[in-house]
Amino acid sequence: MSLPSKILLWEAGARDGLQNEAQIVPTAVKAELIDRLVDAGLDHIEAGAFVSPKWVPQMADSAEVFAAVHRRPGAVYQALIPNIKGLEAAIASGFRHAAVFAAASETFSKRNINCTIDESLERFRPVMAEVARHGIEVRGFVSCVVDCPFEGPIAPAQTARVTKALIDMGCTDVALGDSIGTGTPTRVQAMIEACARDVPLDRLGVHFHDTYGQALANILASLEVGITSIDAAAAGLGGCPYAPGATGNVATEDVVYMLDGMGIETGVDLKALVRAAWFISDALGRPPASRVAKAMKAKL
Ligand code: HMG
Ligand code: MG
Repeated sequence: MSLPSKILLWEAGARDGLQNEAQIVPTAVKAELIDRLVDAGLDHIEAGAFVSPKWVPQMADSAEVFAAVHRRPGAVYQALIPNIKGLEAAIASGFRHAAVFAAASETFSKRNINCTIDESLERFRPVMAEVARHGIEVRGFVSCVVDCPFEGPIAPAQTARVTKALIDMGCTDVALGDSIGTGTPTRVQAMIEACARDVPLDRLGVHFHDTYGQALANILASLEVGITSIDAAAAGLGGCPYAPGATGNVATEDVVYMLDGMGIETGVDLKALVRAAWFISDALGRPPASRVAKAMKAKL
């Protein structure tokens, strides 16, 4: 088994992690979480979302959060955007990295962004034209890459079609989202291999929610087929309000612990990351979902 020597980690805790919280998280807490995570070495970070505040009120203060962050030179702060309105708001707030999000499932697309898959791709075209003028990089997400909460299994060819469409329109790379965390290693590998027929592996990443406890196994399976970019969220926070039953993302500290143990470089200080995971968990008033954060608490 040939594995990479280095991995790019995308930290999703402050966006995916907090978009599904029932309680209001103060702006200053979100900004401190981002600063702590970047200080821990997670220099590719999702810092907010410029989506409709009626749809996701938890992200309504993304501009204020970014204004409060101590921006570290060289770090990549990314805003999630669904349309040109979101892009304009993200640019006005100082973001230079954005991400658009589509789905491999028609029903999920309709529930999450109120349009069909093809309509969403059309919606992204003016976004891509505008970012080209500003020199802004745009990542793509595809949700429901293995299963949909409404439709069940999704054919790998369908995930591959949407992934290729995002790359063709100019996305730098695409994060393949197992939004409800039902994937298992062999199905995940088949899905990645289908995508990799049209898109180079170095432009694909994986984004696992850990609902069924499969995320670390799926990450290892993804590395085995050539993936080198992984999304994760500190403390295992996360979930999509429009993906019923989905729990948090794989915890960043669980991923870093595994990769450290395998000698795969991440550039992350695990203790600082675990401190950040406890910081946000204490603010939310519950322990982290992460096993590593709990195990390491006494050793901090
Ligand atoms: P719509 O209702 O069809 O949109 O929603 P609309 O264009 O008709 O606009 C309706 C209202 O929203 C208008 O305001 C617009 O101005 C406003 P009103 O006139 O009623 O006062 N609006 C906006 N406001 C702020 N920012 C914007 C924006 N756009 C419109 N960008 C829309 C369509 C896409 C806007 C809506 O469905 C939406 O915001 N959806 C976001 C859902 C979401 O954020 N889901 C979670 C993120 S995806 C995810 O978590 C999955 C991922 O993690 C990967 C994985 O795990 O698989 C990425
Ligand atoms: Mg997600």
